[in-house]
Amino acid sequence: MRSTVLVTGGAGFIGSQACRLLAEQGWSPVAFDNLSTGHRDALGEIPLVRGDVRDAPAVAAALDRYDASAIIHFAAKAYVGESVVQPADYWDNNVGGMIGLLAGARAAGVTRIVFSSTCATYGVPGRLPIRENDLQRPINPYGHTKLACEQMLRDHEVAYGTRHVALRYFNAAGADPWGRMGERHEPETHLIPLALRAASGQSGPLRIFGTDYDTPDGTCIRDYIHVHDLARAHLLALRHLEEEGESLALNLGSGRGSSVRDIVAAVETVTGRAVPVIEEARRPGDPPVLTADPTRAAESLGFRAEMSDLATILRHAAPWFGHEGRHEQAA
Ligand code: UFG
Repeated sequence: MRSTVLVTGGAGFIGSQACRLLAEQGWSPVAFDNLSTGHRDALGEIPLVRGDVRDAPAVAAALDRYDASAIIHFAAKAYVGESVVQPADYWDNNVGGMIGLLAGARAAGVTRIVFSSTCATYGVPGRLPIRENDLQRPINPYGHTKLACEQMLRDHEVAYGTRHVALRYFNAAGADPWGRMGERHEPETHLIPLALRAASGQSGPLRIFGTDYDTPDGTCIRDYIHVHDLARAHLLALRHLEEEGESLALNLGSGRGSSVRDIVAAVETVTGRAVPVIEEARRPGDPPVLTADPTRAAESLGFRAEMSDLATILRHAAPWFGHEGRHEQAA
C-alpha cells in the first residue's frame, strides 16, 4: 500500500521538489500550504489542502481525511534578514506553526515527522566543518525559532513518542533537474538567483556583502546543496522512520565551501556572461563560513549529495533567470 504523507509547505521551493519525488517513488504526497509564499502550479497533479499549520484542527482534519501516516514539515518563514526586523512573525509562524502541527499530529495519532531545520541553529561555529553535536547558539531570530522547534520535537518524543528526523539544511540552491520548477522567492534575497539575474541584465549589479572576512578571498563561504539532493534526503528520512529507526538530527550539505566570489566566477562560466558586481559592507547576521560535515547523514541514511557541484546547480537554475540551461533528459 502507498503510504500517504502530509507535506506542509509543499508548494514551496524545496517542498514541491519533495512532493514530486515522493509521488515518483511510490508515496502519496498531499501538500498542506497556505500559499503565502508557495505556488500552486509547482505541484502539478499533487493534491493541495489550503491551510495554515498554526491551525491544529485543520492539520488534524487533513491527516485524518487522507489517512496520512507521516508528516514532512517544511512550512516556515526562512529569511535571516527579515527575521531580525520582524521577529514576532518568525516566532508566530515557525514556533506557533510547530505547536499547531504537533497538536494536530497528536490528535490524529501521527508520530513520524521529518522537520526542516537549518545550519542557522549553529550561529558562528566554533570549528569547521560543523558536526551535529557542535554547540547550537543561533545569532538571529530565524535560527532561534528553528532551534526551539527542534527542542519541541525532542520533548514531544519523550512524552508522546513522536519520532522525528530534524534535517539541518545548509544553503539550498538549484532547480528541478528536469526543468519543471525553479526558485521563485519574492522578494529574492539569495545569492545564486541574484547573481544569475545580474548576469542576464534583469537587475542591476550583484551586491557583494562584505569583502573583508577572514576567508581566502575576503567573502563569505557557504555550503550549497542542490534542491533535488535535499528532497532525496527527506525520502530517506521518511523510510528511516517507517522502519522504526531512532530520532535523528542531521546536517544536509555537500561538505564543500564556496565563497561569494566563487559563485560569481561559476555563474560567469556557466552562463558565458559577466556578472557586474558592487562591493558593499557586511550584511548583519552573516557568519563568515558555514560548511557541513555530512558524515552522519551518510552513515545513518546512506545519503550523499550527488548534484551539488556548482556547475550542476547553476546549469539547472540558469534557465529560470533568463539564461540558456541544460536539463536532465527524462528517464
Ligand atoms: N550575498 C551577497 N549578496 C547578495 C546576497 C547574498 O553577497 O545579494 C552573500 C551573503 O552575504 C552570504 C551568501 O551570499 O554570505 C549567501 O547568502 P544567501 O542569502 O544566499 O544565503 P544565507 O547563507 O544568508 O541563508 C541561507 C538560507 C537560510 C539559512 C541560511 C543558513 O536562506 O534559510 O542559509 O546560513 F538559514
